[in-house]
Amino acid sequence: MKVITTIKDMQVEINKQKSQSKSIGFVPTMGFLHDGHLTLLNRARQENDIVVLSIFVNPLQFGPTEDYSTYPRDFERDRALAECEKVDFLFYPSVEEMYPHPSSVKVFVEDRTDVLCGKSRPGHFDGVATVITKFFNIILPTKAYFGKKDAQQVAVIEGLITDFNFPIELIPVDIVREEDGLAKSSRNVYLSPEDRKQAIVLNKSLIAAKTAIADGERNCTNLISLISKMITYGTNGIVDYVEILTYPQLKPLENLEGTIIIALAVKFTKVRLIDNIILEIH
Ligand code: PAJ
Repeated sequence: MKVITTIKDMQVEINKQKSQSKSIGFVPTMGFLHDGHLTLLNRARQENDIVVLSIFVNPLQFGPTEDYSTYPRDFERDRALAECEKVDFLFYPSVEEMYPHPSSVKVFVEDRTDVLCGKSRPGHFDGVATVITKFFNIILPTKAYFGKKDAQQVAVIEGLITDFNFPIELIPVDIVREEDGLAKSSRNVYLSPEDRKQAIVLNKSLIAAKTAIADGERNCTNLISLISKMITYGTNGIVDYVEILTYPQLKPLENLEGTIIIALAVKFTKVRLIDNIILEIH
C-alpha cells in the first residue's frame, strides 16, 4: 500500500493505472476507521482492480459550532487497518493541499437539503459535494462506495453524479451495526458508558416503527410520535429530528407507500448520532 499526500502524486498514480485500463474503486472517509468503513473497502476490493481510500476530515462540511477540531483522528491505526484490507493507495492530503487558497468555486446542492441533516446542518452538503467533486476529479474512480448510514449523503451524491455527468457508478452499502444494533460510527467513542447503553434506542425505535407498519399503521404523524416518545421518555437523548420521507427523492409523503426512509438524529450529551431505515411499502 502506498500512502500519498499530494494531489499531483495521486494523479500520476491514477494516470498509470488508467493507462493499463485498471478499474478503480474509491472509498472516501474521514478516517478513524471502523467496521462500517472496512465493509466499504472490502466490497471495493472484490469489485475493482485498484482500491483507493481517502482519509480527510473536510473542514468545509462542518458548521462553526460543530466538532471539526475534536473529530477523532488516528492515522497510524487507520494505516494498519487499510493495509489489512489490501488498499492499494491511501490518499491522505492536508487541508492546505486540498484548499490551498480561499475557494473561487464551491458546489451548491439545490435539492434535498431542506430536510434531515441538510436542515439541521446548513451548508453541510455543499461541503460534502465540493470535496467529493474534487476527489472524483483527482481519483477518476470507476465505482465509488458510500454507506447507507448517511442515506441523505447517498441521495445527494447520486444527484451530483447525474447532474455533473461523472462517469462513476455509486455503490450504496448497507448499514453496519454493533451487536446490540447501534450503527457503527467514528463518533461512538465519545459516548459516555451510560449514553452508549441508551443509544441503542435509535435502532430500537426504528424497528418499533417498522413493526407498527407491518401491523398496518400508515399514519406518519403516529409513527413519528411513537419514535420520539421512545427516545424522549426512555433516555436522556434529545431528538434533533425524526422524519419520514420518500427515498431517494426525500420529499414529504401523503400516504405511506413506495420506497420510504425513516431517519432520525439524536444528541446524547455532546454526541450527535444518526440512523435510518429504508422500507418498501406496498
Ligand atoms: P465518514 O463519516 O468517515 O464515512 C465514510 C463512509 O463510510 C460514508 O460513505 C459513510 O456512510 C460510511 N459509513 C459510516 N458508518 C457506516 C456504517 N455504520 N455502515 C455503513 N457505512 C458506514 O461520510 C463521510 O465520512 C464524509 O461525509 C465523506 C463522504 C468522506 C466526505 O467528506
